[in-house]
Amino acid sequence: MAAPPFLATALLVLTLTALWCGNAVRAQTPVFACDASNATLASYGFCNRKASASARAKDLTSRLTLAEKVGFLVDKQAALPRLGIPEYEWWSEALHGVSYVGPGTHFSPLVPGATSFPQPILTAASFNASLFRAIGEVVSNEARAMHNVGLAGLTFWSPNINIFRDPRWGRGQETPGEDPLLASRYAVGYVTGLQDAGAGNATDGALKVAACCKHYTAYDVDNWKGVERYTFDAKVSQQDLDDTFQPPFKSCVVDGNVASVMCSYNKVNGKPTCADKDLLSGVIRGDWNLNGYISSDCDSVDVLYNKQHYTKTPEEAAAITIKSGLDLNCGTFLAEHTVAAVKAGLVSEEDVDRAITNNFIMLMRLGFFDGDPRKLAFGSLGPSDVCTSSNQELARETARQGIVLLKNSGALPLTAKSIKSMAVIGPNANASFTMIGNYEGTPCKYTTPLQGLGAIVATVYQPGCSNVGCSGNSLQLSTAVAAAASADVTVLVVGADQSIERESLDRTSLVLPGQQTQLISAVANASSGPVILVVMSGGPFDISFAKVSDKISAILWVGYPGEAGGAALADIIFGHYNPSGRLPVTWYPASYADTVEMTDMRMRPDTSTGYPGRTYRFYTGETVFAFGDGLSYTTMSHSLVSAPPSEVPVRLAEDHPCRAEECASVEAAGDHCEGLAYDVHLRVENAGAVAGAHSVLLFSSPPSVHGAPAKHLLGFEKVSLAPGEAGTVAFRVDVCRDLSVVDELGQRKVALGGHTLHVGDLKHTMNLRILSRGQKMRFHLVGVIELDEKYRSWELVKGGEII
Ligand SMILES: *[C@@H]1O[C@H](CO)[C@@H](O)[C@H](O)[C@H]1NC(C)=O
Ligand SMILES: *[C@@H]1O[C@H](CO)[C@@H](O)[C@H](O)[C@H]1NC(C)=O
Ligand SMILES: *[C@@H]1O[C@H](CO)[C@@H](O)[C@H](O)[C@H]1NC(C)=O
Ligand SMILES: *[C@@H]1O[C@H](CO)[C@@H](O)[C@H](O)[C@H]1NC(C)=O
Ligand SMILES: *[C@@H]1O[C@H](CO)[C@@H](O)[C@H](O)[C@H]1NC(C)=O
Repeated sequence: MAAPPFLATALLVLTLTALWCGNAVRAQTPVFACDASNATLASYGFCNRKASASARAKDLTSRLTLAEKVGFLVDKQAALPRLGIPEYEWWSEALHGVSYVGPGTHFSPLVPGATSFPQPILTAASFNASLFRAIGEVVSNEARAMHNVGLAGLTFWSPNINIFRDPRWGRGQETPGEDPLLASRYAVGYVTGLQDAGAGNATDGALKVAACCKHYTAYDVDNWKGVERYTFDAKVSQQDLDDTFQPPFKSCVVDGNVASVMCSYNKVNGKPTCADKDLLSGVIRGDWNLNGYISSDCDSVDVLYNKQHYTKTPEEAAAITIKSGLDLNCGTFLAEHTVAAVKAGLVSEEDVDRAITNNFIMLMRLGFFDGDPRKLAFGSLGPSDVCTSSNQELARETARQGIVLLKNSGALPLTAKSIKSMAVIGPNANASFTMIGNYEGTPCKYTTPLQGLGAIVATVYQPGCSNVGCSGNSLQLSTAVAAAASADVTVLVVGADQSIERESLDRTSLVLPGQQTQLISAVANASSGPVILVVMSGGPFDISFAKVSDKISAILWVGYPGEAGGAALADIIFGHYNPSGRLPVTWYPASYADTVEMTDMRMRPDTSTGYPGRTYRFYTGETVFAFGDGLSYTTMSHSLVSAPPSEVPVRLAEDHPCRAEECASVEAAGDHCEGLAYDVHLRVENAGAVAGAHSVLLFSSPPSVHGAPAKHLLGFEKVSLAPGEAGTVAFRVDVCRDLSVVDELGQRKVALGGHTLHVGDLKHTMNLRILSRGQKMRFHLVGVIELDEKYRSWELVKGGEII
């Protein structure tokens, strides 16, 4: 069915002309199919907006030759002029704002920049789920606005929800941290914010833009001591896979209804993830029922053939990925090798049809086949909706909500009136580009720390080192020391940037880069006033020396705080905003990096070898700062208003084996789970003198069976309280969903025995016991609820009987 040569040439000229004019035209006109003004196009079944997306996709697929079909398997989707379908680039990125990293999105004089939010690691520290969604809504407004003028696609390969398992990971900054529940909430919030097309637009799964949860799965080694993500084989136990690595992806698909999942570069237990039918078709599309498409990383199909040598021929590589459930290949591999793979009988044309049908349905849900998007929902969005003052204010608000106060001997907040001069020192003191991290776009504007602080008090700036690497010969100690000695107060802004931690670069040490520690010590010792240490980084550092130093009055961690980072930092330092961020990762001592192999995927400790385990859920060694740490300028007190009963009966069916024999746990599904859900209501009071927000983190410590975590987060809620004000925070604790753990075989189980719920020092134990039907349970309180003396308002349930 090849076109006659002259026609092919004519088409080529046409395409070239379109490309040629592209740069000029691009800045005005969106790409779309099914132009309604063309009667021929309007008559095609796939252009019929009244039909279902699947019927339209079927119609389109039926019109294509095999050679044409394979052009729809890759991110740079081929144009098909005979059907009025223009080229479409699937690859756009929006990790924390519309980004120029994917080739589908560009900035131009028409839209020179977009709102740049903090890196997700700082946003996660806000522990504010409604904020995650609010950011997604702003980003998708800006994305649609740019799409309408031909500057952005509709398919965004964000967010990155891999667990930040090891503190050295160069891409940890892109993620919401080390906890599966926090990562799940972040994924659901951000994805729904991006995708939700609003009521009335929901017909046939309409999407505002399509999000993508990546990188599936157990991907968190980039390049550590020469071990590269392209060839790394992550050895992961079923237990770790199911209770650490998979939950964010499951929530993203099941609760967030995400449009896409991207498989990673690495292998998991010997198999490349993009060629793993159990993981793609079995779990994502089967168990989780993905309504969308599965994409490869760029270009992980090529990688599994050329670098991993997983198949003997490129045709086999094409065939195995498509048959495993891959729909779209970022790269060109499937466009080059799939026709031959079909001809060789390695993969059927029906499998190719399945893949492109998933891709077509996605574009239909996005309105790509509905004609000019300016006449459709979101069509009125344009350049004036990008970088609006309210969008930029949300970027500043996000940084304020995320910044974590780690130490405060009372110096903060500063009073501007009493400061005649402030020394602002350190390689990140005037950071601009560094603040927006990676997967960035051009921001609307920057407010650097120096600019933010300088807007309030007079400053003297000394970088101290010419860059964050801070090598000996770039150290400028004497001028920095002199500035600190003669100022009323010193703010030191240190940390990292993409030269220290980034995609394809993991750290090997947790110590501050180069001579930064020497700079801090010299400046702190020379300062005449209080010293505020600000760490700008994605990953954690061992800064124990600063934690214990009398010379350092306060420590703040600001992540990579986005375009308004300096303004947000000043808001906090001067008390215009009371810090409320809490660490989303464990800060380990430096020795952790010297003794633990980054490539060891095991979450649980192994006492026989001294392996300490990973994250607050399993690691029990010393920390510099712990997951959830974060101070405030006020004092919040908690008390319990209503709690689950201290004795919880689990009623098993007559024939359940645990009725006859001693069991440590029962399945976290089944009839016995019905009704096992309880309210936990906490009263939170702002006992201090300033207003503040506070995230209540509810943890549970299960009985120690199945290598259960020491504790795990089961919910969080953020409240904002005026001085003296009290509020109630409500959690619904579902025993089978929230208190269960994953056993050695990957099954969810509820351990029998005492589960202790805790919020800070406040503890409450619920004891799960098997009860036969009809049997009565006696319970009494003494010794079961662990009460802190000061929390008198715990509601004491009277002893009695449960029937
Ligand atoms: C309508 O679309 C078809 C298919 O792309 C094209 O061949 C034809 O020239 C178009 N007609 C007009 C009037 O633009
Ligand atoms: C679709 O959603 C947009 C944005 O939420 C809204 O402005 C528009 O009215 C909706 N369209 C319909 C048909 O409800
Ligand atoms: C601080 O950085 C900004 C933005 O890059 C730059 O314009 C300004 O000149 C810098 N200030 C100093 C004192 O170097
Ligand atoms: C300050 O000087 C003392 C004494 O020389 C030294 O022990 C300390 O580490 C220095 N640095 C800090 C941050 O206190
Ligand atoms: C959470 O974020 C939202 C969106 O910015 C904000 O309106 C709300 O006040 C925040 N909650 C708290 C308790 O700060």
